[in-house]
Amino acid sequence: MQHDTIAVLDYGSQYSQLICRRVREANVYAEMISWDRAAERLPQVKLKGIILSGGPASVYEAGAPALPDIVLESGVPVLGICYGLQLLAHALGGHVAPSAKREYGSAEIEVTGKTRFFGGQPRQQQVWMSHGDRVERLPAGFETVARSRNSPCAAIANEDRSLYGLQFHPEVVHTPNGFALLQNFVGPICGCTGDWTSGHFIEETVAGIRAQVGPDGRVICGLSGGVDSAVAATLVHRAVGERLTCIFVDHGLLRAGEAEQVVDTFERHQGMRLVAADAKEAFLDDLDGVTDPEAKRKRIGARFVRVFEEETDRLLEESVKRSEERDDSSPKVFLAQGTLYPDVIESASNDDSANARTIKTHHNVGGLPEDMTFELIEPLRMLFKDEVRRIGEELGLPEEIVWRHPFPGPGLGIRILGEVTWERLEMLRQADRIFLDELRAAGFYRQTSQVFAVLLPVQTVGVMGDGRTYANVIALRAVTTDDFMTADWAQLPYDLLARVSSRIVNEVDGVNRVVYDISSKPPATIEWE
Ligand code: XMP
Repeated sequence: MQHDTIAVLDYGSQYSQLICRRVREANVYAEMISWDRAAERLPQVKLKGIILSGGPASVYEAGAPALPDIVLESGVPVLGICYGLQLLAHALGGHVAPSAKREYGSAEIEVTGKTRFFGGQPRQQQVWMSHGDRVERLPAGFETVARSRNSPCAAIANEDRSLYGLQFHPEVVHTPNGFALLQNFVGPICGCTGDWTSGHFIEETVAGIRAQVGPDGRVICGLSGGVDSAVAATLVHRAVGERLTCIFVDHGLLRAGEAEQVVDTFERHQGMRLVAADAKEAFLDDLDGVTDPEAKRKRIGARFVRVFEEETDRLLEESVKRSEERDDSSPKVFLAQGTLYPDVIESASNDDSANARTIKTHHNVGGLPEDMTFELIEPLRMLFKDEVRRIGEELGLPEEIVWRHPFPGPGLGIRILGEVTWERLEMLRQADRIFLDELRAAGFYRQTSQVFAVLLPVQTVGVMGDGRTYANVIALRAVTTDDFMTADWAQLPYDLLARVSSRIVNEVDGVNRVVYDISSKPPATIEWE
């Protein structure tokens, strides 16, 4: 089924994906399309409106990204944001020039005109500006509907043609009324019905998977314990039940209790067929004596691929044997993956028709064999992470899975600086568990994005009872972030940190010192290796 669609034409703004996410939060499907692919893509969707994103260029420069003819020819409402506004004004005969005063950050606007766009909105609003150019002369048919001190045209409108432009960013949280503005645009102005809901998505996706797999096909899905693969597997399970087999590779580099939790959730509670491959020893053997972080990643990645391949080969052989016994032809086997929309946009392959693609290896664990050519099922390809979480909740997955912080593929392997041994893994697991238990108990898990302990390769002097100790240091890391590209260290309460520190030193043998990492990213990274 085709959904009412808002096309977000991307002109290179860091916020383009965010515009998409916000529109979807209003239960309207939004698709991000590179501006130069508009002519090809727009006719294929059920187009109800177009949003032109911001971007770093200036419209009057030679070679600046242009407004494709199809945008105005399509006759649907258009909203230009920042560069999008300038583009719209420029294309329709207005004049855009560098602003004498650049405007970045918070600003106040006053709504001066009557327009559906600001319907039900206060006249004075706080907004987030970020621009160096501004519209000096409006195109014919437009009027200014809001202004700020530095932007006489903070918002412009041609009500008759449903064309709007904003000099500020409605998609960011620093524009408190921004979401309501986007709702006004996609609802009353574009007439979208709000048919992009978790319930619809689940229903359609399950039906789609059923049709793709057919009555006899089988599906294999790798589970990591993270929310993406969990939701992907659950959707496939709803569609084909027993014909799904999940593979979970226990590499021994997991946090305390995680392997058990995966088996418990998916096998016992969800009733899925699950193969849990215990490959701890093989991984540890591979890591013996290895201290370089990239070498560790490579070894862990290579072993992961081998174990996954062995397990899929075994499943394929079994399936062939079973069909031979029944004198049937072998069923087709599919591979389900939790690929998300940002990966699809970034790869910009946009080759939706090609379902059977060779799976690319990632630089990290979880990358699957390069030459594995199963037909793929990627039920989350159109979703952002927050949408995946909503679907996970609707599917009834437990909170610990749905809201789990991301965990890197190489696991604790890159949180033990230096050599990885079983003894050091156990030490880190205990410290990490204490940190997370206390964090959850204090109600800070959902307020943070990634939180973990790191075992350092240094020993320091301490004193316990009457004796000196010479033991290990644990570093605690807690960050908040929206996209993991930049991150702030979390300002956890001192009493929480004090409890964690005291418990770790008292309960974990071999640790006599705990430090808290107060570096943001950049310049530091989230992980220590
Ligand atoms: P950094 O440390 O680069 O991390 O700030 C950003 C995000 O990526 C995760 N990360 C990894 N994930 N394999 C993964 O699957 C890796 O090798 C890897 N290294 C970092 C990190 O946990 C954070 O979420």
